Amino acid sequence: MTAASQILDRVLVLEMVRVTEAAAIAAAKMIGRGDEKAADHAAVEAMREALNGLYMDGTVVIGEGERDEAPMLYIGEKVGSALGKGPRIDIALDPLEGTTITAKAGPNALAVLAAAEEGNLLNAPDVYMEKIAVGPGYSPDIVNLNRSVAENVTAVAKEKGVAPNELIVCVLDRPRHEKMIAELRAIGCGVMLIPDGDVAGVIATTDPDTTVDIYMGTGGAPEGVLAAAALRCVGGQFKGRLVFRNDDERLRARKWGIEDLDKIYDLEELAKGDCIFAATGVTHGSLLEGVKTLRDGRITTESVVMRASSGTVRWVKSEHRRGVTDN
Ligand code: FBP
Repeated sequence: MTAASQILDRVLVLEMVRVTEAAAIAAAKMIGRGDEKAADHAAVEAMREALNGLYMDGTVVIGEGERDEAPMLYIGEKVGSALGKGPRIDIALDPLEGTTITAKAGPNALAVLAAAEEGNLLNAPDVYMEKIAVGPGYSPDIVNLNRSVAENVTAVAKEKGVAPNELIVCVLDRPRHEKMIAELRAIGCGVMLIPDGDVAGVIATTDPDTTVDIYMGTGGAPEGVLAAAALRCVGGQFKGRLVFRNDDERLRARKWGIEDLDKIYDLEELAKGDCIFAATGVTHGSLLEGVKTLRDGRITTESVVMRASSGTVRWVKSEHRRGVTDN
């Protein structure tokens, strides 16, 4: 075990929950206020402050954007209290996954991050990614982005031992998915349309309680890396292919060292080696309860933190009496 992975084990796993809790609590103050930017800003500030309290030499590899477009938690920003001496950790983060959901008080907004030893998380540019995911227990490569919707659904249904029309497929509700949704409905599948938040959508495939069998569709590439980190810890399969809308996006990808622009990424290529995934619910959702403020002023949060090397999944319910960072 390297020094960095020992630190992942002993210190950072549970510490990461404090970070997502801090972001979630800050964002929760803006639930239903109709102001996406303010909600995101609150989460970003809180997450950055909490990350800077951790003993590590951290680098944001997936963050709020490139340096010229994001004042905080930009890609390449150094975080942690032990720069130059602590373990070198790469961090992919989304302080508020579901800004619109939060502004509208909808379900499934999360504060999320993934952490891994330096070099182990794909530096995904902020472009779209075509994604397909299933939970654990299926044969390797049961889903494939080069196959049709019908072929993927049929393959999963066959192994699950049900008819294709018994499957539930989660899809982001976007005009770009109209054809896919029509194909799924033609098969007779249940299509669970989500307004936003495909990290939760992908993770839903791993939890039978959600009834989601497959996640399909195009969403953010950074969210793809975060979801892949989660699936590395709990099992399941994920394939992703970057989608470029123009030459500027292709250029960005090349800048981050991506040469094969049509490559289909597997879980291990998005999040390699040992990694940690942590999330705290901001609004109520399929994965986690949202932040609640009780009548006596206590704040409750629900989080999950998982680690790839051990497969340990910890559910953390916290009560905060004085705010998170001084707990
Ligand atoms: P934000 O939290 O940044 O608003 O992202 C929410 C989200 O729904 C992601 O979960 C998803 O990957 C992406 O946006 C989809 O992008 P778009 O809204 O452009 O279709």
